[in-house]
Amino acid sequence: MPKLYIETVGCQMNVLDSELVVAALRKEGYELTSDSAAADTVIFNTCSVREHAEEKIYSALGRLKNAKQSNPEKVIGVIGCMAQNHQRTVFERAPYVDLVVGPGQLHQVPELIRKVQQGSGQQLEVSLGRKDGSRENITRSHESFDPLRDPTMRPTPFQAYVRIQIGCDKFCTYCIVPSVRGPEQSRSPQHILAEARQLADEGCKEITLLGQTVNSYKYTEGETTTRFSDLITSLHDIEGIDRIKFVTNYPKDMTDDLLIAVRDLPKCCKYLHVPAQSGSDAQLKTMRRGYTVAEYREMLARTYEMIPNVAVTSDFIVGFSGETDEDFQMSMDLVRESRFKNSFIFKYSERPGTKGAQHMIDDVPDAVKRARNQEMLALQNEISEEDNQRFLGGKVEVLVEGLSKAAIKKEAELQNANEQITPSPSPSPQGGGEGHGMAPQGQQTQLTGRTMCDRIVVFDGNRRQVGETIDIAIYDANAHTLFGSVVTQHLTPELVTLS
Ligand code: 5AD
Ligand code: SF4
Repeated sequence: MPKLYIETVGCQMNVLDSELVVAALRKEGYELTSDSAAADTVIFNTCSVREHAEEKIYSALGRLKNAKQSNPEKVIGVIGCMAQNHQRTVFERAPYVDLVVGPGQLHQVPELIRKVQQGSGQQLEVSLGRKDGSRENITRSHESFDPLRDPTMRPTPFQAYVRIQIGCDKFCTYCIVPSVRGPEQSRSPQHILAEARQLADEGCKEITLLGQTVNSYKYTEGETTTRFSDLITSLHDIEGIDRIKFVTNYPKDMTDDLLIAVRDLPKCCKYLHVPAQSGSDAQLKTMRRGYTVAEYREMLARTYEMIPNVAVTSDFIVGFSGETDEDFQMSMDLVRESRFKNSFIFKYSERPGTKGAQHMIDDVPDAVKRARNQEMLALQNEISEEDNQRFLGGKVEVLVEGLSKAAIKKEAELQNANEQITPSPSPSPQGGGEGHGMAPQGQQTQLTGRTMCDRIVVFDGNRRQVGETIDIAIYDANAHTLFGSVVTQHLTPELVTLS
């Protein structure tokens, strides 16, 4: 059987894309390996959002140069956003790469690998650029469809991503996504519902709907328009699906119908990721985000008012073109008052091809970007830790996802020690699934799970509990994790459930 090694960086979209590529290649007889040296085909699924992510891929490719020299049959592929962004440059910088495939062309990967193996040389398949034709043609060239699912590549067997929208038309000036993922397209509700039903039939309990601006979802067919709130209401009826999550929200499309749906649908996670990016109007304007800080504040106040105990998270970019100390302090003010559950904070990374790179100067020194990043992170961590204290002494309902990071590390060390005595015949597959970093059935181990509000909870439990929804009594908390123990009715009956 040919062996496939696949490495994925970037967002959940990429994780899902890898799942689909693996499914297509498994159909061709491939099996996964976690050892790139032993693989017949090595694929990197890449991200272009920041320069750092791209440079890391070139370094990883550099490390494969010798392997390719000693085994010219090895097929090396670069797929995803960087493939679309750099195109032939990938071949120029790493001439031993065999295929470069953009995110809209991933269905071609098996055929392209075959062509390489048949001696047709380097293969490049990308979608049209945003100025390379009519909107219809560009849109069609990015159209990707999600035909096959590979349960073993899911985050866990009972959790799955479902793509409901591709591309983006917001064109924030710092962002490469509209170029590499193409025009915004919403997928038909029938297809989404059919996929969710299939996932439920396969034992999936939690679906996460994916879109760059997921809440801008809108699908019109004849007289009928399906809004995002309509879609989640329909998905809510699927038996077997217990939790519905979605990322990423665009602040301006946080409409009341959506907030009401999130509030009233019990399966809908009370967790909203709504990136603010900045707390300064001047910066929001140069970023072309399409809203003011006052509008973001109004949206947030409405969200907190309408959905009790909702958890909101945000993204911020520090050091974008022209960001002054005052601008940065306004972002700090927004973080301070917003009580986000968490914020993802990024140093601005200029992306060639964006309006930001064309018309603005990347004028904030890296040292200043780094200092602002650390300052904001420290503030957010303080808030997250403070807010998590309210869980102490209460209980939360958790969907158990698997072993905790510490337990996985411990198991890997144990396995290594065992292998030195008896070499294991084959490595376990990547991703979730049976046998992935799991303690033997029945054994006590440290587990991790998430609440409906996406809070991570670590506790001692039994491997059999993975995939179950259970109550955990919380006795400790830091900024990012709650720690607890499994509630046993006769021991801890009086705890109050918190969310
Ligand atoms: N530099 C830094 N961060 C960026 N993001 C998007 N583009 C850039 C960039 N050029 C951040 C935004 C977005 C998140 C996914 O990545 O905060 O919400
Ligand atoms: Fe990028 Fe803005 Fe689209 Fe988000 S909304 S993907 S930040 S262009």
